[in-house]
Amino acid sequence: MTLTEELIPTERRLLFNKLADRLETAYNLSRKVVSFQANKDEPVYRWFKYKEGFSSALVKYFLTEYSIEPGKLLDPFAGTGTTLFAGQELGWQTYGIELLPVGVFVMRTREALNGIDTDKFVATTKEIWIELARMDEYDIHIKHITITNDAFPDETEVLLNKYLTYCSTVRDEKIQTVLRFAAFSVLEEISYTRKDGQYLRWDYRSKRNLPGKPFDIGKIYPLEEALKRKLSQIISDISGNATDSLFAQFAEQPSMRHPAHITEGSCLEVLPAFEDKFFDFIITSPPYCNRYDYTRTYALELVFLGQDSNQVRNLRQSMLSCTVENKEKREYLSQLYTSIGRHESFEEVMGAYASCAAMTEVNAILDELNMLNKLNNNNIPRMVKNYFLELCFVIYEMARITISGGYCVMVNDNVRYGGEEIPVDLILSEFAEIFGFHINKIFVLPKGKGNSSQQMGNYGRTEVRKCVYVWQKR
Ligand SMILES: C[S@@+](CC[C@H](N)C(=O)[O-])C[C@H]1O[C@@H](n2cnc3c(N)ncnc32)[C@H](O)[C@@H]1O
Repeated sequence: MTLTEELIPTERRLLFNKLADRLETAYNLSRKVVSFQANKDEPVYRWFKYKEGFSSALVKYFLTEYSIEPGKLLDPFAGTGTTLFAGQELGWQTYGIELLPVGVFVMRTREALNGIDTDKFVATTKEIWIELARMDEYDIHIKHITITNDAFPDETEVLLNKYLTYCSTVRDEKIQTVLRFAAFSVLEEISYTRKDGQYLRWDYRSKRNLPGKPFDIGKIYPLEEALKRKLSQIISDISGNATDSLFAQFAEQPSMRHPAHITEGSCLEVLPAFEDKFFDFIITSPPYCNRYDYTRTYALELVFLGQDSNQVRNLRQSMLSCTVENKEKREYLSQLYTSIGRHESFEEVMGAYASCAAMTEVNAILDELNMLNKLNNNNIPRMVKNYFLELCFVIYEMARITISGGYCVMVNDNVRYGGEEIPVDLILSEFAEIFGFHINKIFVLPKGKGNSSQQMGNYGRTEVRKCVYVWQKR
């Protein structure tokens, strides 16, 4: 047991002791495999880097290790659809729920690739630049919101609007989708911004009045250069020539592939609509409890997809609570369950949440730290409380809709606030156990460089656990 574990106060300590024999360092699951890194050079995945994603290798590993034959596979936090598309390749019927239009657009683009006329697509991409040079008027304009105003150099913005106007004239819907997607996936590199977790960072060359030290993002690409590169990457991946192309992936057994079922919305609302024991396998990774704001990080992509400021604000509130801005969803969940005639489920989940002593302890400690001004934001206790409460509902539903003997694999990180480690892995596993899962394993990723003695000396703390949980429905 490490020094930190010895010092963990009582309830978390007891829970740790209860589940200690399931914790196992997984030397075969590197950080690379668990993160998006392992995908970054793979065809299609490399078109748009969703850094919050995990790798297709991880999904395939669990599906083949824990299952004999393909059935129905779900990801309630589908992101850009790694679970769905990796499962599809292995013959699974896949279902994904995703709230952010960004991930939904990527998934729909991947679906549009099925049966796309590659020759026609290539021919269309050759016309684009001639058509754009001829275009004086354009009727599509990106409608910015406050946090994206002036994100592009003026000439880039004009060309982007012309390009979108051109796309709207392309009659073949699949080709139109992939052309729009090409622009969507270069937005960051043609802009003055960089994604930075809680917000966008702005380059000193933008028109904005920026406080603090000037930030230099390096080359800002002209739209034409970025788009041409992206389109040629797409063409190479969808044409039959490259050995690792999509075409090669499916050429041998195209009949194995079932269309992915993609639902845009909150899994808090969508999961209750599935019938009992519908799924054989769930592989997922919810947002982490780390204040990461998807709606600010992906603000450019959201306005590109037509979201206005109200819609972005609503999205931020509907997301699983993981930022200090999220308000409580208790009343909304109560009404939701009442409206579908399952108020007793609501009460059951609330009861399970309240019965988890480690959860109560974490909430009490965070409230106390807040009173002592030891947290760097007053809303951290609310965020943590609601993060777990909402996941408690998700886990309840996941247990209900998984067949007996089926698996749920979840990737998540523990977090620390005000110096207190919050054992996300243990608390969520406790919920899972209450709702009928057996906790098979909590695979702990080998510690990264953050745990070197030098780093520990610097920060005086060990790294929090990053884990993959394997739960099996009893
Ligand atoms: C860690 S990412 C998952 C990434 C995914 N595994 C992949 O490989 O692309 C978590 C996802 O949950 C989504 N999300 C957050 N709240 C949600 C909700 N209430 N319902 C559905 N999806 C939600 C986020 O938009 C984000 O895409």
